[in-house]
Formats: sequence, structure tokens, C-alpha cells
Amino acid sequence: MLKLDVIVIGAGAAGLFCAAQAGQRGRSVMVLDHAKRIGGKILMSGGGRCNFTNMYASAENYLSANPHFCKSALSQYTQWDFIALVAEYGIAYHEKTLGQLFCDDSAKDILNLLMRECDKANVQVRHPVEVGQIDKTEQGFVLQTSQGEFACQSLVIATGGLSMPKLGASPFGYKVAEQFGLKVLPTRAGLVPFTLHDQDKQVLAELSGISLDSTAEVENTSFRENILFTHRGLSGPAVLQISSFWHPGQAVQFNLSPQQNLHEWLQAEQTAHPDAQLSTALAKLYPKRFVQVAIEYFQLSNKPLKQYQGKQLEQVAVAFEEWALKPNGTEGYRTAEVTLGGVDTNELSSKTMEARKVPGLYFIGEVMDVTGWLGGYNFQWAWSSGWVAGQVV
Ligand code: FDA
Repeated sequence: MLKLDVIVIGAGAAGLFCAAQAGQRGRSVMVLDHAKRIGGKILMSGGGRCNFTNMYASAENYLSANPHFCKSALSQYTQWDFIALVAEYGIAYHEKTLGQLFCDDSAKDILNLLMRECDKANVQVRHPVEVGQIDKTEQGFVLQTSQGEFACQSLVIATGGLSMPKLGASPFGYKVAEQFGLKVLPTRAGLVPFTLHDQDKQVLAELSGISLDSTAEVENTSFRENILFTHRGLSGPAVLQISSFWHPGQAVQFNLSPQQNLHEWLQAEQTAHPDAQLSTALAKLYPKRFVQVAIEYFQLSNKPLKQYQGKQLEQVAVAFEEWALKPNGTEGYRTAEVTLGGVDTNELSSKTMEARKVPGLYFIGEVMDVTGWLGGYNFQWAWSSGWVAGQVV
């Protein structure tokens, strides 16, 4: 039986980073993953350029039943620490928007960084390996795997959430937590496009490909970024962000004129161009195809601006500024970027990620109930939680 100080299950962002830290402290470390190719999510992330962190990352950018939990790890290993490591490797990067840092060249640079950090620390990365039974012993843990029996003092679970099964996602981490009597909070897809009810889809599918600056709001949370009409429903950064806050049955409130008061703008147009049709005026602000569909969808009449009287122009503005849409659902784990919920953080130490009830067992990254907004926050959680565990395993 091969004996190691540390075994990490899951060779994703959190697992590889944690393994490298532990190895660099002189611990013998092995990483096991069931995927044929590792790093699939990193390579796909940020449209192939990996949005590897966010300059403004802080606890406010994370959803969790315990919103304070992430503070310790985020302050022990910050975005600036990871940015310094990226710079050490000579990886060129840029801020796209809102503090989001992307590689100039390719997400491969981040995967190479992780693999080189592991190589430097003599970390063995084995895949594909199936992990079966896990037993707790006095010295630590014994694992039955498709490559034989392995023993370790510390076991780190870094198997992520349920998002994108085709990239290797599995419920493995939740099952291990349950096996050891740790609570797992219900999971659901986050950062995911909305699907629409038939009556909305029939009209809005025609807009596929159109993207608009908008705010998207659920209860008291709102994001201002683009929304994107697709042939299946609604996507784009504002929609992905708000999807993590949305619950089935709720309406999402969109303001399609976040940059200005549309009523005042229409009144000014009415004065300046009284003979212009409403659609001609609106086409100054929105794509023509959108204006045609929106007039039908919002059941507005299209006539010369001078014919709008009383509150009629205001009603047009309200239709665009207070569009309340009830999604049918989301596209689910198939396309979701993250999984909300997971291993209950009350079961874990916020300083080290060790399970309180099971000394030597650690959970890091997305498998636990800490989920970032869109914009590099999820990778930062993988780095921060992986780093703190890596200092103590
Ligand atoms: P991750 O999912 O990365 O790794 C888990 C690993 O465990 C995988 O290698 C898997 O094969 C392995 N595993 C699972 N079950 C196993 C089992 N039973 N046995 C052995 N191994 C098993 N975030 C961000 O900050 N910026 C971005 O640009 C993006 N972009 C993005 C794009 C897409 C398409 C997706 C799906 C996600 C993103 N994300 C993102 C989110 C980000 O990728 C995610 O939060 C982190 O990769 C989570 O890191 P983990 O290491 O926790 O899990």
C-alpha cells in the first residue's frame, strides 16, 4: 500500500493549488482525478482566456448560508497574492471590466502555472483514477482506487460541484461529506441562462443574438451589465449574475434603459420630432429588430410621437424600464458555471477548511457552500481555500 502525507481528490483549480502548497512545505502529496483530461474547466473558462481573479474580490461577492465564512481564507490568500504569482510566471493579463482579470493569451497559461507549481513540489498527479471506498483509520485514511490502495494522513476533497458533468463534475464530494456525518445544503445551478415559458419564447426567440445594456433585479439584488437573447431564452452577464439569486416562480425585473430616464428622453424626442413614429425614435437607442419585437411584445401602439397624450409616453417608458419576466427555469447544471449550496460551512474551520468533526479531512473550492459572483471570484475562492488548507494538511 502506497502511503502519503496528503491525498487530494480532484485535480481542478482548488485541488492542484492546494497540492502544490502542501508539497512546497515538504509534504508527500498525490492528487487523484477521474477525468481523462484534467483542467478542462480552467481551459474553457473566460472564453478560453480564464478570468483568474477579480481585483475587488471580497466577502460581499460570495453567496453562502454563512456569509462570514469566506472572510478568513480570502484575507489569508488574497487576489493580490495570486496576481503576484501570475506575474512571477510572466503571464500577460489585462482587466476586461469591473476588476475582472483575464490572460492576454490563453487559459493554458494558468493550467501550466498550476502544473509547474505541482512539479516544483514533487506532487504526483494521477488520472484517470476511480476512487471507491474511503475508510478512516487511527493514522488517517485508506482509499480503495482503480490503481490500488493508498493511505494518507490528510485527505482533501476538491471535487467541485455538479456544474458541467461533461467536464467531470460529480456528486462525489457531497457523498464523502455525508459518509462522515457532515451536513450538505441543497444544491442548485448558478451563473446559468434562463429558459422561458412558451408565450415569451415564441416572441423573444426572434431576438437571438441581440445584446442590451440592462439591469436585472431580484428582490433587493441587482446587476447592471448586458443581457443576451438566445434561441433558448436569456443569457449574458447580467442574467447569469441574477440567476444565482433567483428562485423558481419569482419574476426578474429588467430595466432596459439603465443609462437614462426613458420618459424624459421620449418627451424630448416628441418635441424635437413630433411626426416621427415611436419605432423610429426607439431605434436611436435599440437595434431595429429589437424595437419591432418589443412593440409587439409589450403591446404598445406604434404611431407618430405627437399622437401620444397624457400618460401614454410614460407607459411606453415603464414597459422598457420595469419589464417583469418570470423565467420558466434555468438551463441547469449542463451549462451552469457554478453550483450553489454544498458542504455546510458550519461543519468546517474557516481558517483551515478542516472538518470540525473529522480531523484530517478537508473540503476546498466549489464543493462547499461558498459561491462567487461572475467575474473571477470563483477561481479566487479556489485559490484562497486551497492555499489555507495547503498550509496545514
Ligand atoms: P473543479 O470543478 O475545477 O474541479 C473538480 C475536479 O474534481 C475535476 O477535475 C473533476 O474531474 C474532479 N472530480 C469530480 N468528481 C470526481 C471523482 N468522483 N473522483 C475523482 N475526481 C473527481 N470561475 C472564474 O472565477 N472565472 C472564470 O472565468 C470562470 N469560467 C467558467 C467557465 C465555465 C464554462 C465553467 C463551467 C466554470 C467557470 N468558472 C469560472 C467557475 C470555476 O471554473 C469553478 O468555480 C472552479 O473551477 C472550481 O474549482 P474546484 O477546484 O473547486 O472544482
